[in-house]
Amino acid sequence: MHLLNRVDDVEPGPVDRTGLLGLYRWPEPSGRAVVRSNFIATLDGSIQGLDGRSGSINTPSDHEIYALHRALADVILVGAGTVRAEGYRAVDLQPWQREIRAAEGLAPYPLLAVVTRSLHLDPAIADPLVEHGPVIIMTTQQHDEGDVRPLLAAGIEVRSHGRAAVDLAELTGDLAERGQSRILCEGGPRLHRDLLAAGLLDELSLTLSPSAVGGGGVRSTVGDPLPARVDFDLRFLLLAEDQTVFASYRRSTSPG
Ligand SMILES: NC(=O)c1ccc[n+]([C@@H]2O[C@H](COP(=O)([O-])OP(=O)(O)OC[C@H]3O[C@@H](n4cnc5c(N)ncnc54)[C@H](OP(=O)(O)O)[C@@H]3O)[C@@H](O)[C@H]2O)c1
Repeated sequence: MHLLNRVDDVEPGPVDRTGLLGLYRWPEPSGRAVVRSNFIATLDGSIQGLDGRSGSINTPSDHEIYALHRALADVILVGAGTVRAEGYRAVDLQPWQREIRAAEGLAPYPLLAVVTRSLHLDPAIADPLVEHGPVIIMTTQQHDEGDVRPLLAAGIEVRSHGRAAVDLAELTGDLAERGQSRILCEGGPRLHRDLLAAGLLDELSLTLSPSAVGGGGVRSTVGDPLPARVDFDLRFLLLAEDQTVFASYRRSTSPG
């Protein structure tokens, strides 16, 4: 992996895993949630491959960076559409990721937090036969108790924030109060758009896959336009041996 720009006192050049850790480590927790999104897109702007999923536009280096993001987060926040499309399960980690978490003083596994209005989720998301992190489902106060029962029976915590939609400010505040302030949003586009609209997205990691797919694949946001344009400052750019580009941005604090 090659760092293409100067970041603080780090000069451009080759970066090993320790260097990557330094680049991707979250800021020190301050009691407030810090939300980072991580998406992969093709050169023609699709976040979906020919099969409608993201797995088919991944590259080997993206697998590594994706896993590194997960190793450093307290929470993996994801929309129910992505959970259903990608067959998400509670977070499982490889030994190297667990070593990083132990060295960084993090819980052994990140929490998987799923945002849903419908509660149409397979309770097997928290498979009791596999060692993994906890799962929490974040829904609205208008939910049907009958839909919650199978999830509770599977040992999944269900919490309600907001009425018509999940109130994401309340949700991230709730997580931060529980000491889980490093929140990694892995999608999908509806949740990503809502986080941006609510002014809650602090950092954006975009992976550029050296491929094109055509078709009608969606972008990393879907839904209504944002109330106002959101600007970001580039933090760093990485180029991998397999030609994948990793761009990391922080929400701009200067007036647009
Ligand atoms: N390339 C990438 O990096 C990447 C990353 C993630 C996803 N994807 C792709 O994106 C596609 C999935 O897209 P999607 O449109 O289904 O996105 P999504 O944002 O994952 O899911 C939308 C669903 O999440 C729930 N939701 C989101 N925001 C909510 C809110 N504020 N309040 C209540 N519920 C909320 C709702 O669930 P209910 O319907 O249950 O109410 C909504 O229907 C898949 O093809 C996946 O492969 C790609």
